[in-house]
This record gives sequence, structure tokens and C-alpha cells, in this order.
Amino acid sequence: MPNRKRPAPIHPDLESIMFTEAEIKERVRTLGTELRNTYGAGEFTMISIINGAVMFTADLMREIDNPVRLDCVRISSYGDRTMSDGAPQIVSSLTIDIADRHVLVIDDILDTGRTLTLITGLIRKLKPASLRVCVLLDKEERRQVPFKADFVGFRIPNKFVVGYGLDFAERYRNLPCIGVLKTQIQGTLEWA
Ligand code: IMP
Ligand code: MG
Repeated sequence: MPNRKRPAPIHPDLESIMFTEAEIKERVRTLGTELRNTYGAGEFTMISIINGAVMFTADLMREIDNPVRLDCVRISSYGDRTMSDGAPQIVSSLTIDIADRHVLVIDDILDTGRTLTLITGLIRKLKPASLRVCVLLDKEERRQVPFKADFVGFRIPNKFVVGYGLDFAERYRNLPCIGVLKTQIQGTLEWA
């Protein structure tokens, strides 16, 4: 038997795969190098925006050997829709001190820019030594408030994607790849 690994079958709710597990892994590894180039061997504090950034944060922090502190903030999200329409709100806030610390905010995706504008505005008031933002995906076309991340995994077109932490109505976060959700699924909410 040839020892070739078969590609995983595509999830039936996905229209296409945008990034495979291997592509994500490779990009997260190189993002680790970019962080290392910026922070050197120094300590920094990662603030992960949950739930979406859970997997990205977990993988990214294992790509660096700097001393890191971790905290999470939870933001009210889309609910069951695929378009964010209102102002995001903080549901659960920081629990560690970040004054005079080098802070890196981590999110899964930069979309309208509202979430990261809100979070970085609040963090800046707490007087960190520095503040940077790292996102896995950037959907620049959808921006409603100007926002640029310091580190971007992939720039993507305006498609609703799920997997690797990203959800639709809390589903699909556990897919190892990132894929475009079928439009007919986006209109189906009876199980949500
Ligand atoms: P923003 O405030 O509009 O930039 O929204 C950012 C948040 O919206 C992300 O942290 C995600 O939770 C969610 N989001 C935006 N686009 C997508 C997508 O394509 N799939 C899943 N979640 C998304
Ligand atoms: Mg999110």
C-alpha cells in the first residue's frame, strides 16, 4: 500500500476550502518568526479575543519561546447572523494588569474593524508600554472604521468563512481548515 496521506474530505457545509490545515500551520509558524523579530526575546502579554481566536492563540503561543502572559476578553458577537450590524460590547473583561506591559491583541478576523477599535481603545487607556494587534485573517473590503493590524496571517476576499476557531452560530469552530460556508447554510438557522 502506498503510504500517501489522502486529503481530508471537504465538510458538506463548505463551498470551498480557503486554507488547509497545513497552510494555516505554516503561516502561524512564520507569524511566530515575525513576532520574534519584533519583540526579540522579551516578555509580552497576549490578549486573546474569545471565542474566535482560541485556536489561533493556542497555536501561535506555541510558536514562540518568549515569556508570555495570557488573558482573554469576550465580546458580544454576531449572534446567529453573518453580518455584524451593531456596536460590539465587552462581555468579559481583562483580569491581569497590563500597565507598562507590551501588549499583543489577538483576533481571528478583522472585518468591519469595530471590535478591535473598541478593544484597543480600552487597552490604550490602561497605559501599556506598547500595543500591537495580530489577526489571522483580514477582510479589508468590509472595513467600516479605519483599522490596520500590525501582523496579518492572510488577507482574504469578502466571503463568510468558518473553521479554525471561526464560527457560524457557534458551529464549525472545530474544523481544522478554514472554508467558505455555503450560502444556503447561512440562511438556515433552525438548529441554531
Ligand atoms: P469586526 O468588529 O466587524 O471587525 O468583527 C470581528 C469579528 O466578527 C471577528 O472576531 C469574528 O468573530 C466575526 N467575523 C467577521 N467575519 C467573519 C467570518 O467570515 N466568519 C466568522 N466570523 C466572522
Ligand atoms: Mg471573534
